[in-house]
Amino acid sequence: MFNIHLTMKYITLIFMIKKHHFKLFFIVISFLIACKSEKKEHHNFQKKLENRYNKLLEYKLDSTAFPRSYSHEKQQIKKVPSKDWTSGFFAGNLWQIYKLTGNEDFKKKAKEWTAFIEKEKFNNRTHDMGFKVFCSFGNALKQEDNKAYKDIIVKSAQTLSTRFNETIGSIRSWDFNKDKWQFPVIIDNMMNLELLFEATKISGDSTFHKIAIKHANTTLKNHFRLDHSTWHVLDYDTITHLPRLKITHQGISDNSAWARGQGWAINGFTMMYRYTKDLKYLNQAEATANFFLNHKNLPEDGIPYWDFDDPSIPNVSRDVSAAAVVASALVELYGYTKNQDYLDYSKKVINTLETTNYILPKDFEAPFILDHSFGDWSKRSEMNEPIVYGDYYYLQTLIRLKDLN
Ligand code: GLY
Repeated sequence: MFNIHLTMKYITLIFMIKKHHFKLFFIVISFLIACKSEKKEHHNFQKKLENRYNKLLEYKLDSTAFPRSYSHEKQQIKKVPSKDWTSGFFAGNLWQIYKLTGNEDFKKKAKEWTAFIEKEKFNNRTHDMGFKVFCSFGNALKQEDNKAYKDIIVKSAQTLSTRFNETIGSIRSWDFNKDKWQFPVIIDNMMNLELLFEATKISGDSTFHKIAIKHANTTLKNHFRLDHSTWHVLDYDTITHLPRLKITHQGISDNSAWARGQGWAINGFTMMYRYTKDLKYLNQAEATANFFLNHKNLPEDGIPYWDFDDPSIPNVSRDVSAAAVVASALVELYGYTKNQDYLDYSKKVINTLETTNYILPKDFEAPFILDHSFGDWSKRSEMNEPIVYGDYYYLQTLIRLKDLN
């Protein structure tokens, strides 16, 4: 018998199921379209990155002309000799691209550029041995076991050790401004300690390891403010061996938080924990990382202004290199602490760099990847430019994230 109520119920039910199916169908299709366009975007981005990598490969081999930065104003590449503190980054970038891509052409070029740095192992007029020798030969050694590379690292550590003052407990950073400073030590110097740890591992000579610990302990004691940010330069009195000045050289003012300096501190103390497993270093790395991440002047996209205390914020340049130095450190720090905030920050930085105009256009004729690093305020130079060390820590972050997966 025909029941009008039952029929109506069936029709409503079918309609609801259909409607539900239609909704489901719509959701699935939208999801597939989104996946496809994300995949396409990712593919386009990878192509762009590959183009940028090739610009490094194409750069003419010249032992006296390491590419350091690109001046938008002069429209030219700034080239420096091997004694410059940034010389090791270019070879390091080639090694890291080789690790990321497996393309042998990068390895070949990396070896050639690395060889040009060797003479720096005798250069005792600078503390930047780690930046120069470890970013080049250290990365080389990760890719191939080579006795010559090991010997160069040990010799470099011996040379760097000549700048260590036992009573002050630090490695002297700079030799300039002798009329103003007695024994200047900058926070950046923490980055040279990795070379010393590795030299001890290679040679079995614990002297280098001990110097690294001493230097880090002195820095830990004197270099940090109550809010866990770091001063840039500490000048030690050569008679009392105590700090006599706490100042800046590259920041906006003596008491400001220069962004890259905070990065060197976070990166340096995270590395200290890697080699020693001493919690005091981990605590400092975390404290300064938290200062950085929670700072009211850190922009939403994660790329800091070049100095957190520049009074002209927000109308000042960002520093991509500082973001990359911190992003790389925080992947490692996440590994030790499992604090998700650290990993989130690193991923955010990578995402910002990839989805905005921080990566140079694919045909831009310069051997760099990222734009908008901030070099040296004291010289008013390299402000808002592609700089080689921005790329170095960006690539290191990519490798660390890949290794994490
Ligand atoms: N080590 C110098 C700098 O970070 O600019």
